[in-house]
Amino acid sequence: MYRNLNLNRRQFVSKSAVILSSATLLPGLSFSGINKTLKKVKVVLVGTGSRGSHTWGKNLVGPYSDYVEMVGLCDANSKRVEVAKEIIGTNAKTYVSGDFDLMIREQKPDMVIVTTTDCYHVDYIVRAMELGCDVISEKPIATEADQCQNIIDAEKRTGKKVYVGFNVRFMNESAEMKRILSSGELGKIISIDYQEYLDTSHGASYFRRWHGKIKNSGSLLVHKSSHHFDLINWLLEADPVEVQAMGKVAYYGSNGKIRGKNCRSCDHKTSCPFYWDMTKDEGAMKMYGACEDVDHYYRDGCVWDNEIDSYDTSTVQVSYDKGTQLTYTLNAFLPYEGQKITFSGEHGKLDVRLFYRQPWETDAPFEFRLTKDRKTTKRWTMKPGDGGHGGADERVKDMIFKPNQADPTGQRAGSRAGVLSSLIGIAARKSIESKKTVKISDLIKFS
Ligand SMILES: NC(=O)c1ccc[n+]([C@@H]2O[C@H](COP(=O)([O-])OP(=O)(O)OC[C@H]3O[C@@H](n4cnc5c(N)ncnc54)[C@H](O)[C@@H]3O)[C@@H](O)[C@H]2O)c1
Repeated sequence: MYRNLNLNRRQFVSKSAVILSSATLLPGLSFSGINKTLKKVKVVLVGTGSRGSHTWGKNLVGPYSDYVEMVGLCDANSKRVEVAKEIIGTNAKTYVSGDFDLMIREQKPDMVIVTTTDCYHVDYIVRAMELGCDVISEKPIATEADQCQNIIDAEKRTGKKVYVGFNVRFMNESAEMKRILSSGELGKIISIDYQEYLDTSHGASYFRRWHGKIKNSGSLLVHKSSHHFDLINWLLEADPVEVQAMGKVAYYGSNGKIRGKNCRSCDHKTSCPFYWDMTKDEGAMKMYGACEDVDHYYRDGCVWDNEIDSYDTSTVQVSYDKGTQLTYTLNAFLPYEGQKITFSGEHGKLDVRLFYRQPWETDAPFEFRLTKDRKTTKRWTMKPGDGGHGGADERVKDMIFKPNQADPTGQRAGSRAGVLSSLIGIAARKSIESKKTVKISDLIKFS
């Protein structure tokens, strides 16, 4: 299995290299399956919620108008798709999800951008390719192993291409980690400790929304951690082999003593530490509150909902085909937010600390420390770039939509990267359920 995955990685890399070299020859957009003339790429967007309307909507059609033409919007919620049209500021025709095929037939897009609730990505990714379109999917590409297989098989069957919006690869701090690991200074990376700290603002927000139910998000180990697992896979240029995990809902869900349907209708407004008055958030009221009667989705859902089953506490161990061991933890109820990532190599240690939010002063948002022996150490700091997610949201779009974008570190992610990052979280879930080690090769066949 290791050999198979390695072979496929090499095939993938060499395919990327071909794509990259075509980029230098073609004046227009340049990767496989996309309109290679000087015309703009015609895109449609399915899933017109927050991420769709803003990052892949308003912030695409304006700044990328030389490269992209938005020709259709589609959502399961007939009202939200109209709200999105207004936010985006487009004349694109709107459709409800049952009319996805009709949208493709009428608008004839080159690409479909998928930003629905995670568990539905697969439906649109596969159907879009079957109807002749390339795809950009938000992470996670899929929430179940059979969905991953369906995507890999559909890509092969149709000859179309899936790109995954792994914006974390494009963050300044990620590029810095890549630079150090690629330099070989640390030698072989023997182990990695990765700690994800989510605070009671951001962390809790997942449990108010659809993300708190595994059936929607595949758990935070898929929804959220797919970013982190992809980062490690990309940094190591290695494939995950086996996964063991522990996880539980230790804080939210049925752990609370009070609960309601949602904050606005709750009897415990004054006593609940997580009460959120959504009526004061104009954007949320417009995008979700005003559309509730269509799908009964309440954006201010209760963090104490008994049906919450997405773990707020988890520990995952992953072994890689190149020998590295990863220990990853995620806690979603902490008093501060950030990450600590340490790489232990045969020639030294790299410690990375990302300070996102904490009740103490730091001299910089990101701290790096490289220690090569017991007497010497070097510390330096960094800050995020400007723009969405530290400028990464723009860079990922540049890489996909602008012509002649060099990609020397392989930041442009395809389906294989998407699938492998999701599969670590899916395998972790399976390990938590079965209390057994789960092999990635038992979940997917690449050829
Ligand atoms: N890369 C990042 O940094 C990042 C950040 C935020 C969200 N995301 C991803 O973007 C996606 C959307 O997240 P969001 O925060 O916008 O959520 P959201 O709830 O605001 O939007 C989801 C939209 O999908 C629609 N939808 C649900 N089921 C559908 C179906 N079957 N067919 C068509 N439409 C359907 C909903 O009506 C809603 O409008 C998710 O996959 C999420 O993981 C990525």
